[in-house]
Amino acid sequence: MIALPEINPPLINASGILSYPEVFRALEASGAALGGYVTKSVGPAEGAGNENPVVVCPEDEGQPLLNSLALPTQSPEDWEADLAQTRLESSRLIVSIYGGGPDEFGEIAARMSPFADLIEVNLSCPNRVPGEVALMESIGQRPDLSGEVIGRVRDSTTKPVIAKLSPNSDYLAVAAACMDAGADGLGCGNTLGPGLAIDTVTGKAILAGTTGGISGPALKPVNLRMTYECYALFGCPIIGYGGIGSWEDAVEYTLAGACILGIGTAFLGKTTSEAARLTRRIWEGVQAYLGGAPFPEMVGRAHRDPAPEAARA
Ligand SMILES: Cc1cc2nc3c(=O)[nH]c(=O)nc-3n(C[C@H](O)[C@H](O)[C@H](O)COP(=O)(O)O)c2cc1C
Repeated sequence: MIALPEINPPLINASGILSYPEVFRALEASGAALGGYVTKSVGPAEGAGNENPVVVCPEDEGQPLLNSLALPTQSPEDWEADLAQTRLESSRLIVSIYGGGPDEFGEIAARMSPFADLIEVNLSCPNRVPGEVALMESIGQRPDLSGEVIGRVRDSTTKPVIAKLSPNSDYLAVAAACMDAGADGLGCGNTLGPGLAIDTVTGKAILAGTTGGISGPALKPVNLRMTYECYALFGCPIIGYGGIGSWEDAVEYTLAGACILGIGTAFLGKTTSEAARLTRRIWEGVQAYLGGAPFPEMVGRAHRDPAPEAARA
């Protein structure tokens, strides 16, 4: 296994949220406590995704979000041009990739590899353009195909490879196939569902894609469990994603086994400086909880030791 680069602080954005290079630079300039930045998933061609509306936003914090973007992204050529000019001061660059099958995943991995400190393989987007097959979902639900994808990506890059799993799958079987095929860690995980929201005025589905992946606080217990189970089974590096919006959420994922924490939905609707402030608040809270102990000691501790006295007081 290739060791993951140090991501310090161990907080990153989640792919699809604040995930373009100019935003990374703005966040760095605002003093965000993010040790790494993840791109929007890069695929084999420019994609428009679904028509609007593509997001159902909660009116109150704490409610789930639904999105049915279906992977809109710029072309790989545009990504290459953008990433070639991306200079991050002290943070790592994580390139998220997707493809229509093992060959395309391998090609995109090879193209993005020179720019990436880490490649995250999106095996898990549940959204579809109506009438089309949900591609990532059909790959990420099949251990054999997921393993083949990771094997091809492994052969196409010398950078560490993370397999980002779907909660809507037999994820332990998928993870086992990915680890066997050479993954260096797991992303736990993508959005749940998909789910549905109906407009009571029109009586119709709100999202143009009809259904959308569920993220935010409603997703947290599901992906926290995925993190816990994957850590117990594989003991590998894990990026925890799903409803992280406070230091308590970050601590829970770390105790379950995540060594990197991804923040997505909690950033939505925030300005760059508000998003940066949120990351600082989360990291300060985690550090206070640690009380001077090194962060790695907390990773997976729910499987080993009781909480320190200070945390129980
Ligand atoms: C608007 C939106 C767009 C997303 N786009 C991507 C994507 O391009 N690739 C990917 O792997 N995950 C994507 N995701 C999933 C997130 O990266 C993350 O795994 C998920 O939202 C759970 O984290 P959260 O609850 O903090 O948002 C997207 C999520 C949202 C809400």
